Amino acid sequence: MNIDNIKKEFPIFDNKIQNNDLVYLDSANSSQKPKVVVDRIYDFYTKEFSNVGRSVHYLAVAATNMYENTRVSVQKFINAKDKDEIVFTKGATEAINLVASTYGQKYLKPGDEVLLTELEHHSNYVPWHYLRKSKGVKLEFADINDEGEITLESIEKKITTKTKMIALTHLSNVTGAILPIKVITELAHSKNIPVLVDGCQSAPHLKLDMQDLDCDFYAISCHKMYGPTGLGILYAKKKWLEELPPYQGGGGMIREVKKEGITYGDLPNKYEAGTMQTAQVIAFNESIKFLNTVGMKNVMEHEKKLINYGQEVLRKNNSVKLIGNPKNRGAVLSFTIEGMHPHDIATILDEDGVAIRAGHHCCQILHDKLGLTASARASLGVYNTKDDFDKLNSSINKCKKIFELK
Ligand SMILES: Cc1ncc(COP(=O)(O)O)c(C=O)c1O
Repeated sequence: MNIDNIKKEFPIFDNKIQNNDLVYLDSANSSQKPKVVVDRIYDFYTKEFSNVGRSVHYLAVAATNMYENTRVSVQKFINAKDKDEIVFTKGATEAINLVASTYGQKYLKPGDEVLLTELEHHSNYVPWHYLRKSKGVKLEFADINDEGEITLESIEKKITTKTKMIALTHLSNVTGAILPIKVITELAHSKNIPVLVDGCQSAPHLKLDMQDLDCDFYAISCHKMYGPTGLGILYAKKKWLEELPPYQGGGGMIREVKKEGITYGDLPNKYEAGTMQTAQVIAFNESIKFLNTVGMKNVMEHEKKLINYGQEVLRKNNSVKLIGNPKNRGAVLSFTIEGMHPHDIATILDEDGVAIRAGHHCCQILHDKLGLTASARASLGVYNTKDDFDKLNSSINKCKKIFELK
């Protein structure tokens, strides 16, 4: 697949949005969907639909096989050791809640500490916050440096003998910083601390290798990976899935149910209670095939060039202040313009078909630290081009004229 032709795989770009060609710079929020994924959902519902893991009729067995095939594709895509280490969830949010709740229930006591960072999305803060209330757990936060990064040293400083979990993002959805997960995990493991990684912003953009990273848990959001909404993935080392209690109870996750008690099903069924997101899981296999066809190495090279170009363009625009300057930056550029509220910027850009996000991006702790209530954010997907940044810049110049800024 030629990276220059990738946009053609996404039907949304064939449409005019308010009479404009769409310049979609909001993929960190959610990515657009290639035709193969949309078609797969339609075909499944119209020609192949059945629930999975229950009936023995032809459609049910075929659907179950397709569902399980996606699990194997995900395993290979992230180089997990075993397919049973892949649990489907409703989103990355649910994946993190699953770990916080089950790990908290089994292992945490009053006074234990969970170490987060100032970069975390609310999805990797609120689930741990619940443990403050229910278990008397203390939350600590590793500080960002002036570049908007979290370093090994900033983590090391906050580890104490009470630290019982480190939960941190792989790639910040605001500063774009890519965190050194492998070395942080090495340090954590040398102190017997498990590590949960929020991989929402890394999985669509970086080549992942769970065995190399060696983290204990990794949460993925499928709708940011050119896949359907309502689907996430929890990667967890097998020993954790065996040791931790189930998260939700219901059909599909049990082995035997008696009035006197219950035994739970094998992995990963133990964590997939009730009717699952069958169509989404089956269609997500197409997202992975799409990314494999493009090649994650090509995705990384393409996006690196673009993000460098985007930074160059926005740095030349004297009103734009970029947030963070990480040495290792992913596909996110957040910025402010003095004298303009980010919501005004986003609204004016939208008139030109330029879709960005404005707000706190579910990172209020980080915005507080930066002394901001909100910022504007341009984020990339495989379909973006240099032209998109030129259009972003000329729309920003239009904003400046409207607000009479220099
Ligand atoms: C860094 C980060 N973590 C977690 C989430 C939540 O993911 P999901 O929508 O799959 O629950 C998001 C989505 O915005 C995110 O950007």
